[in-house]
Amino acid sequence: MLSRLTLPFKDQTVETTLILFKPDSLHRGVVGRILSRFEDKGLQIVGMRLMQMTDEIAAEHYAEHVDRPFYAGLVGFMTSSPIIALALHGPNAIGVARKLMGKTFGIDAEAGTIRGDFGCSKSYNLVHGSDSHESAARELGIYFPDGLLKWDGIQAPWLWDSGE
Ligand code: RTP
Ligand code: MG
Repeated sequence: MLSRLTLPFKDQTVETTLILFKPDSLHRGVVGRILSRFEDKGLQIVGMRLMQMTDEIAAEHYAEHVDRPFYAGLVGFMTSSPIIALALHGPNAIGVARKLMGKTFGIDAEAGTIRGDFGCSKSYNLVHGSDSHESAARELGIYFPDGLLKWDGIQAPWLWDSGE
């Protein structure tokens, strides 16, 4: 059986994405339950770091939003207490993680998604996820400047098959 489940994949790209557990996740004690959703989906942890976001990191991360009216509040929130940076690896990991997260605001996010199930705030939406290959590469460099720990997970043959 296992010999049929070969890599690489057709129509799938193995990607790494940057997830942030925002301060509200930690204050509310829901990090474990949210992390389980990513693990349940089959995404593999290749980096994890509890850290304090500084004004400098926030400015780099959210550079695209610097002129938006919500920018100051966003930076204030993200620097208010520790966050957890998480690097996840797997097939189409960037889009898969965004689907699991749901729409930006909890009030809009579909039930069954992280943001849809865990909150209804506009400002406090629990998680960040990279939105493109370019963003993922840039953001992973911010939070994991020393690189990631790639390892052979036993789940790969069972969860990451090509479907053929
Ligand atoms: P994220 O970057 O955190 O994964 O969220 P996103 O892609 O779904 O949303 P984005 O447009 O990139 O916005 C970044 C974060 O800014 C806050 N925000 N507030 N009050 C507002 O109108 C507003 N708009 C965005 C949210 O915390 C959002 O996650
Ligand atoms: Mg975004």
